[in-house]
Amino acid sequence: MSYPREYESSLQKAAAFWLKQARDLHWFREPQVGYELKTNGTAAWYPDGQLNLAFMALDYHVDNGRGEQAALIYDSPVTQSKQVFTYRELRDQVAQFAGLLKKQHVKKGDRVVIYMPMIPQAAIAMLACARLGAVHSVVFGGFAPHELAVRIDDAQPKLLITASCGIEVDKVLPYKPLVDAAIDKATHQPQQVIVWQREQCSATLQQPRDIDWAEAVRAVTPAECTVVQATDPLYILYTSGTTGKPKGVVRDTGGYAVALNYSMNLVYGVQPSDVLFTASDVGWVVGHSYIVYGPLLSGATSVLYEGKPVRTPDAGAFWRVCADYQVNVLFSAPTAFRAIKKEDPQGHKLAQYDLSSLKRIYMAGERLDPPTLEWTQAITGKPVYDHWWQTESGWPICANPVGVATYPIKPGSATLPVPGYDIRILAPDGSEVADNEQGAVAIKLPLPPGCLTTIWGNEERFVAGYLTEFPGYYSTGDGGYKDDDGYVFIMGRTDDVINVAGHRLSTGEMEAVLAMDSAVAECAVIGIQDELKGQVPLGLVIVKDGEQVSAQALQERLVQLVRSEIGAVACLKQVLMVPRLPKTRSGKILRRVLRQLADGTEVVVPSTIDDPSCIDELRERLSHLVGH
Ligand code: COA
Ligand code: AMP
Repeated sequence: MSYPREYESSLQKAAAFWLKQARDLHWFREPQVGYELKTNGTAAWYPDGQLNLAFMALDYHVDNGRGEQAALIYDSPVTQSKQVFTYRELRDQVAQFAGLLKKQHVKKGDRVVIYMPMIPQAAIAMLACARLGAVHSVVFGGFAPHELAVRIDDAQPKLLITASCGIEVDKVLPYKPLVDAAIDKATHQPQQVIVWQREQCSATLQQPRDIDWAEAVRAVTPAECTVVQATDPLYILYTSGTTGKPKGVVRDTGGYAVALNYSMNLVYGVQPSDVLFTASDVGWVVGHSYIVYGPLLSGATSVLYEGKPVRTPDAGAFWRVCADYQVNVLFSAPTAFRAIKKEDPQGHKLAQYDLSSLKRIYMAGERLDPPTLEWTQAITGKPVYDHWWQTESGWPICANPVGVATYPIKPGSATLPVPGYDIRILAPDGSEVADNEQGAVAIKLPLPPGCLTTIWGNEERFVAGYLTEFPGYYSTGDGGYKDDDGYVFIMGRTDDVINVAGHRLSTGEMEAVLAMDSAVAECAVIGIQDELKGQVPLGLVIVKDGEQVSAQALQERLVQLVRSEIGAVACLKQVLMVPRLPKTRSGKILRRVLRQLADGTEVVVPSTIDDPSCIDELRERLSHLVGH
């Protein structure tokens, strides 16, 4: 099958195309119906299909001869430990832990929040929820208690699963006090907290609420797989929107399983038994899809890595992992490779390892900038692929379809639309723009399997946020263009979401935190270019009349406030005191103008601006700070 034929048939005969892909998996009841259209224009995939995702990912492989193959390899330079789980061992541990969840009355449809570092127990907890048909919501460990509390209140979990600590390079970060603080802040109270105690730090358990994982799991009977409908939710994953409140992206079970399984070969060229090393975190969508579910569904081996690209112990870390486990496919964010490049520009570390097994390198999470692409290609001699996707899509929207044909790489482009995604570039009035012209990147409905089905508990927000701007389309929130060959170039967000080291963050949320400080009269947060992290946030604040605080003291206070309210991962390090901010006559801050000033690009001053004289003064301050 050629790519154009595959792509066309995925759109023209969508139901038949996706039913065919569904047959590659083992269902309890194989779907006969491809999809049903919902009134909002999206599709409910495989409405008559029944399955269990943990069964497909583990039991099926054990029953079909993969029991002794490595399913998950845990490699942790921060604890100097390594552990291999065969498919059989992982299946047994998942069934055993599911038995514990069941004993705590977790059942199909119940929510379970997972707040864990990059240890195998995080994957086991996710798969155990899937085994019971419970809906997990993994919260990234770099988020502070307030963020965890917001997610607890929104998801209303029956139970929370955590570990005693995370380890960031050489810092042991106790998690349990953060969980306790979050539960204190939250209105909703999980009935139980299951804690995995790590050697590096022992958590204090509050009886009777808290349960020691290792102790309690011994005394239970393993749980069988619960049959779920393909349309039942598998997980909720919160992501940053433009407002302070994160959005709970809901993923279905059947459509996601099919999409991931299909993508393993199409996008990554991964065959069963191949080894995939996705250097991300289970707290992000990349971790859900390509550390946990995708590789296991396809019978591959996944590496779960608790470390950084540098400093654990050096810039050879990724290459060492690739050599140790004969990794075939490596996937991480461009920022990780920029970090490696900074420390080892000549690739001396890389030269110490045998990378002959490595076939391809993938990057996503932010645009793969051409210098990073070229450098990675040059020092590894491997093909390096950019591919574009979002928490909402759950799997790639644009990629090089290596499973059917490998297309030439064009620097700056995520290559071609993945089958199932009908990508259109739209002008503000909803008409399609010409090739090579920039516009809003939209996807014609219905979305293919695997994409979000709604926002948890908030269908209105789903419709308003994604389906209303361009009726009949899903708005991605990204801007970009298609060239004459149909290659898609994603140029950046068109909203107030920024991308810091491959992590998606809301500037609106940071503004809400800055505004909590008693000295702050008004504020704006924008993303500014950063050589390593792509973007970092910059706060601009106007202090209240009569406030005597120094710029330095205020910056320190606000940086600390953002760390404690959102988390260190927000990376807000700079706050500038300014006398004025550009606003419309109705008082709305013109963030776009601020971004243009910071980027040093042409500033388009709208006619609605209240006081244009503030522009020059801000230009000077921002260009001094950013250095252009
Ligand atoms: N738990 C607790 N804290 C965490 C954390 C976690 N899981 N992850 C990050 N943090 C903290 C870090 O310790 C750091 O804190 P500090 O300000 O006290 O030093 C802060 O959050 C920022 O972390 P990070 O963005 O990781 O910056 P860094 O300087 O430590 O490392 C990179 C820079 C580029 C090496 C790193 O960001 C990286 O590996 N990025 C890859 C991104 C990625 O995997 N993206 C997912 C999409 S594919
Ligand atoms: P997240 O939901 O955290 O995965 O972030 C998704 C956003 O990251 C997208 O909407 C894009 O803005 C950006 N992004 C991810 N991958 C790419 C890529 N390959 N090229 C350009 N932008 C990307």
